[in-house]
Amino acid sequence: MENQKVRNIGIIMNGVTGRMGTRQHLERSIFAIRQQGGVKTKSGMVILPDPILVGRNEEKLKALAQTYGLQRYTTDLNACLADPYNEIYFDAQTTNNRAKSVLKAVAAGKAIYSEKPVASNLEEALTLCRAIKAAGIKNGVVQDKLWLPGILKLKHLIDSGALGKVLSVRGEFGYWVFDGKSQPCQRPSWNYRKEDGGGIIADMLCHWRYVVDNIFGKVRSVSCLGATHVETRIDEAGKEYRCTAEDAAYATFLCDEGIVCHFNSSWAVRVRRDDLLTLQVDGTNGTAVAGLQKCFYQNTGATPTCVWDPDADNPANYFEGWQEVQAGQKFDNAFRIEWEFFLKHVVENEPFPWTFVEGAKGIQLADLALKSWAERKWIDLADLTV
Ligand SMILES: NC(=O)c1ccc[n+]([C@@H]2O[C@H](COP(=O)([O-])OP(=O)(O)OC[C@H]3O[C@@H](n4cnc5c(N)ncnc54)[C@H](O)[C@@H]3O)[C@@H](O)[C@H]2O)c1
Repeated sequence: MENQKVRNIGIIMNGVTGRMGTRQHLERSIFAIRQQGGVKTKSGMVILPDPILVGRNEEKLKALAQTYGLQRYTTDLNACLADPYNEIYFDAQTTNNRAKSVLKAVAAGKAIYSEKPVASNLEEALTLCRAIKAAGIKNGVVQDKLWLPGILKLKHLIDSGALGKVLSVRGEFGYWVFDGKSQPCQRPSWNYRKEDGGGIIADMLCHWRYVVDNIFGKVRSVSCLGATHVETRIDEAGKEYRCTAEDAAYATFLCDEGIVCHFNSSWAVRVRRDDLLTLQVDGTNGTAVAGLQKCFYQNTGATPTCVWDPDADNPANYFEGWQEVQAGQKFDNAFRIEWEFFLKHVVENEPFPWTFVEGAKGIQLADLALKSWAERKWIDLADLTV
C-alpha cells in the first residue's frame, strides 16, 4: 500500500479487556486490519485504525497494549473523549454499563459503534437513538451473524431462488455451559444474573431479530417461553451464586409472507448437530441447513420418500442426499468485515445500514419476548419511531 494517502483514525475502545473486546474486536478486527496495513477505500485512501484501549484496570490495559504492540491506553474515558483525534467511540462493556458511556460519547460528537444489545431495554435504546439522531452522528451496532460464512452461503441460496418459497426456519443455538462445579464456567457470570444485565433472551433475541429481518422476512409477532434450567453456578471468584436470569429461550416468530421461525437458544443443551448454531430453512423447492461455516442443501429431486414405520430398523441415512454449498472464496472474520464497513462509512460516507435503530429493534424483540413469557401470550411488534 505504498504511495497511498494514509488516514489515521483514533478509536476509543471501551470494555476492550472483556471477552468480545479483546478477541473479536481488538485481535481479530482492529489489530488484524493494522497488520494488513489498513483498509483501502474506493477513493484509493488507506484508513489506519489507531485504537486507545480504555477500561478500569490499568495493569490489564497495559498488558493488552503490549501484546498487540500498541502505545495508547487509559482509564480516563473523559480525557480520551475530549481529544478530537479520537473520532470513533466503540463500546464492548457489559450491557448495563453502556448507555451512560454512549451518551457521553454522543455529547463529545464521536461516531459511535457498539456491541449488541445497544442498551438494557427498549426505552433506554430509544433514548440513545434519539440523542444520536439529534446530534446527527454516524452510528452502528455489531450484527456479526450476517457475515458468518454459513449464513452468507444460506442467503445466497435463498436469493438465487433455489429453495423456492421459504416456509419455515428452525434455529437451534446453544451448547453446554459448565456450572463451575465440575469444570470452570466458560462464560462470564453476569450472563446468569438478571440484576447484572444477564439472560439469554436479551443476549440472543437481538441477534435473531436482524438475522430474520435481513434474511427471511420482517418479524411481526413473538411468542416465547424462557427457563432457568441450571439454578446455581460458581462465579469468577469461586463463589456459588443463584442464577436469576433465564439460560434457555424457546421462541417463535411469525414473519412477513407467513414464514414461521422457531429459535431454541440454550446454555443448557449438549450439541448433537452440525454446529453451535444451525438454521434449517425449508422451502417449496428445497431445504438448506446452515451452520457457522458450512451450508448444506437438498432439492426436491434429492428428497427421499420417507415412510413412517417405527417397528422397522430403517436403513435410510438421512444425512445422505445433501450437497454442500461451495462459495469459491475465503471469508474474513465477521466482526472485522463489519468494522471495515464502519470505518469506510465514517471516513468516506459509504452506506452503513446497521445502525442503533436496527439495534433497538433487536431489543424490542427481546423485551416483548420477556413480556410474552411473563404473560403467557403472543405479542405483535409495533414499528419503532425514533
Ligand atoms: N456479538 C456477539 O456475538 C456477542 C457475544 C458475546 C457478548 N456480546 C456482547 O458484548 C458485551 C461484552 O460481553 P463479554 O462477553 O465480552 O463480557 P465480559 O464480561 O468478558 O467483558 C465485559 C467488559 O466490560 C467491562 N466492565 C464490566 N463491568 C463494568 C463496569 N461496572 N464498569 C465499566 N466496565 C465494566 C469489563 O472490564 C470488560 O472489559 C455485552 O454487551 C454482550 O452482550 C456480543
